[in-house]
Amino acid sequence: MTSDQLGTVYLVGAGPGDPDLLTVKAQRLIRQCDALVYDSLVPVELLKLVSSTCQLYSVGKRRGHHSVPQRKTNDILFDLANTCSSIVRLKGGDPFLFGRGAEEASYLDKKGVPVQVVPGVTSGIAAPAYVGIPITHRLAGSSVTFVTGHEGIDKKRPAVDWRSLAQSSDGLVIYMGVHNLKFISTELIAGGMHPSTPAAVIQQGTVAGQRFIKSPLENLYDEVEAKNLISPSIVVIGSVVDFQVEACSPPPADVTFPMPI
Ligand SMILES: C[S@@+](CC[C@H](N)C(=O)[O-])C[C@H]1O[C@@H](n2cnc3c(N)ncnc32)[C@H](O)[C@@H]1O
Repeated sequence: MTSDQLGTVYLVGAGPGDPDLLTVKAQRLIRQCDALVYDSLVPVELLKLVSSTCQLYSVGKRRGHHSVPQRKTNDILFDLANTCSSIVRLKGGDPFLFGRGAEEASYLDKKGVPVQVVPGVTSGIAAPAYVGIPITHRLAGSSVTFVTGHEGIDKKRPAVDWRSLAQSSDGLVIYMGVHNLKFISTELIAGGMHPSTPAAVIQQGTVAGQRFIKSPLENLYDEVEAKNLISPSIVVIGSVVDFQVEACSPPPADVTFPMPI
Protein backbone atom coordinates (compact mmCIF):
# COMPACT_ATOMS: atom_id res chain seq x y z
CA MET A 1 0.00 0.00 0.00
CA THR A 2 1.21 3.53 -0.73
CA SER A 3 0.93 6.27 1.88
CA ASP A 4 -2.31 7.57 0.34
CA GLN A 5 -3.81 4.09 0.55
CA LEU A 6 -3.30 3.42 4.25
CA GLY A 7 -6.00 1.36 5.91
CA THR A 8 -8.37 2.85 8.47
CA VAL A 9 -7.95 2.10 12.18
CA TYR A 10 -11.25 1.99 14.09
CA LEU A 11 -10.80 2.62 17.82
CA VAL A 12 -13.72 0.57 19.03
CA GLY A 13 -15.23 0.34 22.51
CA ALA A 14 -15.97 -3.30 23.36
CA GLY A 15 -18.20 -2.39 26.29
CA PRO A 16 -17.77 -3.70 29.82
CA GLY A 17 -17.77 -7.47 29.23
CA ASP A 18 -21.31 -8.63 28.50
CA PRO A 19 -21.17 -9.14 24.69
CA ASP A 20 -24.79 -7.99 24.40
CA LEU A 21 -23.61 -4.51 25.35
CA LEU A 22 -21.54 -4.19 22.18
CA THR A 23 -22.86 -1.48 19.86
CA VAL A 24 -24.30 -2.45 16.48
CA LYS A 25 -21.59 -0.40 14.74
CA ALA A 26 -18.82 -2.14 16.70
CA GLN A 27 -20.25 -5.55 15.80
CA ARG A 28 -20.35 -4.69 12.11
CA LEU A 29 -16.74 -3.46 12.11
CA ILE A 30 -15.45 -6.52 14.01
CA ARG A 31 -17.15 -8.87 11.54
CA GLN A 32 -15.67 -7.04 8.55
CA CYS A 33 -12.15 -6.15 9.67
CA ASP A 34 -8.91 -7.57 8.26
CA ALA A 35 -7.09 -7.31 11.59
CA LEU A 36 -8.16 -6.97 15.20
CA VAL A 37 -5.88 -5.72 17.98
CA TYR A 38 -7.40 -6.28 21.41
CA ASP A 39 -6.89 -5.63 25.11
CA SER A 40 -7.26 -8.00 28.05
CA LEU A 41 -10.60 -6.52 29.21
CA VAL A 42 -12.36 -7.54 26.02
CA PRO A 43 -14.72 -10.52 26.28
CA VAL A 44 -13.57 -13.72 24.57
CA GLU A 45 -16.97 -14.03 22.83
CA LEU A 46 -16.26 -10.94 20.72
CA LEU A 47 -13.08 -12.47 19.33
CA LYS A 48 -15.22 -15.20 17.80
CA LEU A 49 -17.10 -12.67 15.63
CA VAL A 50 -14.14 -12.09 13.29
CA SER A 51 -13.84 -13.64 9.82
CA SER A 52 -11.67 -16.70 9.30
CA THR A 53 -9.00 -14.58 7.58
CA CYS A 54 -8.81 -11.86 10.21
CA GLN A 55 -5.41 -11.42 11.92
CA LEU A 56 -5.65 -11.30 15.73
CA TYR A 57 -3.19 -9.47 18.02
CA SER A 58 -3.37 -9.44 21.82
CA VAL A 59 -1.77 -6.37 23.39
CA GLY A 60 -3.40 -6.64 26.81
CA LYS A 61 -2.20 -4.66 29.80
CA ARG A 62 -3.02 -6.20 33.17
CA ARG A 63 -1.53 -5.49 36.54
CA GLY A 64 1.00 -8.19 37.42
CA HIS A 65 1.02 -9.70 33.92
CA HIS A 66 3.41 -9.24 31.04
CA SER A 67 2.04 -6.52 28.84
CA VAL A 68 2.87 -5.03 25.47
CA PRO A 69 4.45 -1.56 25.77
CA GLN A 70 2.33 1.24 24.30
CA ARG A 71 5.07 2.02 21.76
CA LYS A 72 4.88 -1.53 20.42
CA THR A 73 1.07 -1.35 20.18
CA ASN A 74 1.40 1.86 18.17
CA ASP A 75 3.91 0.17 15.86
CA ILE A 76 1.62 -2.84 15.34
CA LEU A 77 -1.27 -0.55 14.38
CA PHE A 78 0.86 1.47 11.98
CA ASP A 79 2.29 -1.67 10.34
CA LEU A 80 -1.22 -3.10 9.93
CA ALA A 81 -2.44 0.15 8.35
CA ASN A 82 0.19 -0.44 5.67
CA THR A 83 -1.11 -3.88 4.75
CA CYS A 84 -4.83 -4.01 5.67
CA SER A 85 -7.86 -1.90 4.69
CA SER A 86 -9.76 -2.12 7.96
CA ILE A 87 -8.17 -2.55 11.39
CA VAL A 88 -10.20 -2.70 14.59
CA ARG A 89 -8.41 -1.60 17.74
CA LEU A 90 -10.76 -3.09 20.34
CA LYS A 91 -10.63 -1.66 23.84
CA GLY A 92 -12.58 -2.49 26.98
CA GLY A 93 -15.46 -0.14 27.83
CA ASP A 94 -15.11 3.17 26.02
CA PRO A 95 -11.82 3.86 24.19
CA PHE A 96 -11.59 7.49 25.31
CA LEU A 97 -12.26 6.86 29.01
CA PHE A 98 -9.03 5.84 30.79
CA GLY A 99 -8.25 3.75 27.74
CA ARG A 100 -5.36 5.57 26.01
CA GLY A 101 -7.57 5.76 22.93
CA ALA A 102 -6.72 9.40 22.32
CA GLU A 103 -2.98 8.67 22.50
CA GLU A 104 -3.28 6.00 19.83
CA ALA A 105 -5.55 8.19 17.69
CA SER A 106 -3.10 11.08 17.83
CA TYR A 107 -0.09 8.85 17.03
CA LEU A 108 -1.84 7.37 13.98
CA ASP A 109 -3.19 10.73 12.82
CA LYS A 110 0.34 12.19 12.86
CA LYS A 111 1.48 9.29 10.68
CA GLY A 112 -1.31 10.00 8.18
CA VAL A 113 -3.40 6.96 9.10
CA PRO A 114 -7.17 7.54 8.95
CA VAL A 115 -8.68 6.88 12.41
CA GLN A 116 -12.29 6.72 13.60
CA VAL A 117 -13.53 6.30 17.15
CA VAL A 118 -16.55 4.14 18.02
CA PRO A 119 -17.69 4.88 21.59
CA GLY A 120 -18.52 2.00 23.92
CA VAL A 121 -20.49 1.42 27.11
CA THR A 122 -18.14 2.23 29.95
CA SER A 123 -17.64 -0.08 32.94
CA GLY A 124 -18.07 2.84 35.34
CA ILE A 125 -21.75 3.01 34.41
CA ALA A 126 -22.40 -0.64 33.52
CA ALA A 127 -20.77 -2.43 36.48
CA PRO A 128 -22.82 -0.46 39.04
CA ALA A 129 -25.95 -0.91 36.89
CA TYR A 130 -25.43 -4.70 36.91
CA VAL A 131 -25.91 -4.65 40.69
CA GLY A 132 -28.73 -2.09 40.48
CA ILE A 133 -26.75 1.00 41.53
CA PRO A 134 -27.53 4.18 39.55
CA ILE A 135 -24.55 6.52 39.32
CA THR A 136 -26.78 9.58 39.68
CA HIS A 137 -30.06 10.13 41.47
CA ARG A 138 -32.01 13.34 41.81
CA LEU A 139 -32.02 12.95 45.60
CA ALA A 140 -28.31 12.14 45.80
CA GLY A 141 -26.90 15.38 44.44
CA SER A 142 -26.14 16.87 41.06
CA SER A 143 -22.67 15.69 40.14
CA VAL A 144 -20.65 12.56 39.53
CA THR A 145 -16.93 12.32 38.82
CA PHE A 146 -15.14 9.60 36.87
CA VAL A 147 -11.67 9.32 38.37
CA THR A 148 -8.70 6.98 38.17
CA GLY A 149 -7.38 5.46 41.38
CA HIS A 150 -4.27 4.21 39.66
CA GLU A 151 -1.97 7.08 40.41
CA GLY A 152 1.71 6.95 39.67
CA ILE A 153 1.44 4.54 36.74
CA ASP A 154 3.34 7.19 34.85
CA LYS A 155 4.48 10.63 35.82
CA LYS A 156 2.67 12.26 32.94
CA ARG A 157 -0.68 12.38 34.72
CA PRO A 158 -1.18 14.85 37.59
CA ALA A 159 -2.00 13.24 40.96
CA VAL A 160 -5.68 13.19 41.94
CA ASP A 161 -6.55 15.68 44.68
CA TRP A 162 -8.83 13.39 46.69
CA ARG A 163 -9.31 15.94 49.48
CA SER A 164 -10.77 18.45 47.01
CA LEU A 165 -12.92 15.79 45.40
CA ALA A 166 -14.36 14.99 48.83
CA GLN A 167 -15.93 18.46 48.76
CA SER A 168 -16.62 19.04 45.10
CA SER A 169 -18.41 15.97 43.76
CA ASP A 170 -21.58 14.34 45.08
CA GLY A 171 -20.66 10.95 43.68
CA LEU A 172 -17.38 9.28 42.68
CA VAL A 173 -16.90 6.45 40.20
CA ILE A 174 -13.34 5.20 40.60
CA TYR A 175 -11.59 3.11 37.94
CA MET A 176 -8.46 1.08 38.80
CA GLY A 177 -8.92 2.06 42.45
CA VAL A 178 -9.05 -1.21 44.29
CA HIS A 179 -5.29 -1.45 44.95
CA ASN A 180 -5.13 2.09 46.29
CA LEU A 181 -8.30 2.03 48.36
CA LYS A 182 -6.74 2.54 51.78
CA PHE A 183 -5.06 5.75 50.63
CA ILE A 184 -8.13 6.95 48.71
CA SER A 185 -10.57 6.47 51.59
CA THR A 186 -8.17 8.01 54.12
CA GLU A 187 -7.70 11.07 51.89
CA LEU A 188 -11.44 11.46 51.20
CA ILE A 189 -12.23 11.37 54.93
CA ALA A 190 -9.36 13.79 55.64
CA GLY A 191 -10.90 16.06 52.99
CA GLY A 192 -14.22 16.17 54.83
CA MET A 193 -16.22 13.27 53.40
CA HIS A 194 -18.28 11.67 56.15
CA PRO A 195 -16.83 8.28 57.24
CA SER A 196 -20.29 6.73 56.99
CA THR A 197 -20.72 7.75 53.32
CA PRO A 198 -22.16 4.74 51.44
CA ALA A 199 -19.73 2.98 49.12
CA ALA A 200 -19.61 -0.10 46.93
CA VAL A 201 -17.10 -2.16 44.96
CA ILE A 202 -18.13 -4.22 41.94
CA GLN A 203 -15.60 -6.70 40.61
CA GLN A 204 -16.03 -8.10 37.09
CA GLY A 205 -19.33 -6.31 36.68
CA THR A 206 -21.47 -7.72 33.80
CA VAL A 207 -19.51 -11.02 33.43
CA ALA A 208 -19.07 -14.41 35.10
CA GLY A 209 -17.48 -14.16 38.52
CA GLN A 210 -19.14 -10.84 39.33
CA ARG A 211 -18.59 -9.91 42.99
CA PHE A 212 -20.00 -7.04 44.97
CA ILE A 213 -19.69 -5.46 48.41
CA LYS A 214 -21.35 -2.48 50.01
CA SER A 215 -19.91 -0.72 53.05
CA PRO A 216 -19.57 2.66 54.75
CA LEU A 217 -16.48 4.44 53.40
CA GLU A 218 -14.56 4.08 56.67
CA ASN A 219 -14.75 0.25 56.48
CA LEU A 220 -14.50 -0.14 52.73
CA TYR A 221 -10.81 -1.03 52.58
CA ASP A 222 -11.15 -3.65 55.36
CA GLU A 223 -14.17 -5.19 53.61
CA VAL A 224 -12.35 -5.39 50.30
CA GLU A 225 -9.36 -7.02 52.00
CA ALA A 226 -11.55 -9.45 53.94
CA LYS A 227 -13.49 -10.52 50.85
CA ASN A 228 -10.38 -10.33 48.64
CA LEU A 229 -11.90 -8.24 45.85
CA ILE A 230 -9.42 -7.60 43.10
CA SER A 231 -9.10 -5.88 39.72
CA PRO A 232 -10.99 -5.25 37.48
CA SER A 233 -13.30 -3.43 39.86
CA ILE A 234 -15.29 -0.23 39.94
CA VAL A 235 -15.64 1.69 43.22
CA VAL A 236 -18.70 3.90 43.74
CA ILE A 237 -18.76 6.36 46.62
CA GLY A 238 -21.71 8.59 47.52
CA SER A 239 -25.31 8.44 48.61
CA VAL A 240 -26.34 7.03 45.20
CA VAL A 241 -25.26 3.66 46.61
CA ASP A 242 -28.27 3.82 48.95
CA PHE A 243 -30.55 4.10 45.92
CA GLN A 244 -29.66 0.62 44.72
CA VAL A 245 -32.60 -1.27 43.19
CA GLU A 246 -31.31 -4.81 43.22
CA ALA A 247 -34.34 -6.10 41.35
CA CYS A 248 -33.36 -4.20 38.19
CA SER A 249 -29.89 -5.70 37.84
CA PRO A 250 -29.47 -8.02 34.83
CA PRO A 251 -27.73 -11.39 35.32
CA PRO A 252 -24.02 -11.27 34.44
CA ALA A 253 -23.16 -12.80 31.07
CA ASP A 254 -21.53 -16.21 31.11
CA VAL A 255 -18.30 -15.04 29.49
CA THR A 256 -14.78 -14.24 30.65
CA PHE A 257 -11.93 -11.97 29.66
CA PRO A 258 -9.03 -13.34 27.54
CA MET A 259 -6.42 -13.06 30.31
CA PRO A 260 -6.67 -14.66 33.76
CA ILE A 261 -8.23 -12.36 36.36
C1 LIG B 1 -7.65 0.90 31.87
S1 LIG B 1 -9.24 1.09 32.58
C2 LIG B 1 -10.24 1.00 31.14
C3 LIG B 1 -11.63 1.55 31.33
C4 LIG B 1 -12.48 1.38 30.09
N1 LIG B 1 -11.99 2.20 29.02
C5 LIG B 1 -13.95 1.67 30.33
O1 LIG B 1 -14.49 2.63 29.74
O2 LIG B 1 -14.58 0.93 31.07
C6 LIG B 1 -9.48 -0.48 33.32
C7 LIG B 1 -10.38 -0.39 34.54
O3 LIG B 1 -11.74 -0.33 34.14
C8 LIG B 1 -12.53 -0.96 35.12
N2 LIG B 1 -13.23 -2.09 34.50
C9 LIG B 1 -13.19 -2.47 33.22
N3 LIG B 1 -14.02 -3.49 32.99
C10 LIG B 1 -14.61 -3.77 34.16
C11 LIG B 1 -15.59 -4.71 34.58
N4 LIG B 1 -16.14 -5.57 33.74
N5 LIG B 1 -15.97 -4.70 35.88
C12 LIG B 1 -15.44 -3.82 36.75
N6 LIG B 1 -14.52 -2.91 36.41
C13 LIG B 1 -14.11 -2.88 35.14
C14 LIG B 1 -11.60 -1.42 36.23
O4 LIG B 1 -11.53 -0.38 37.18
C15 LIG B 1 -10.31 -1.58 35.48
O5 LIG B 1 -9.20 -1.54 36.35
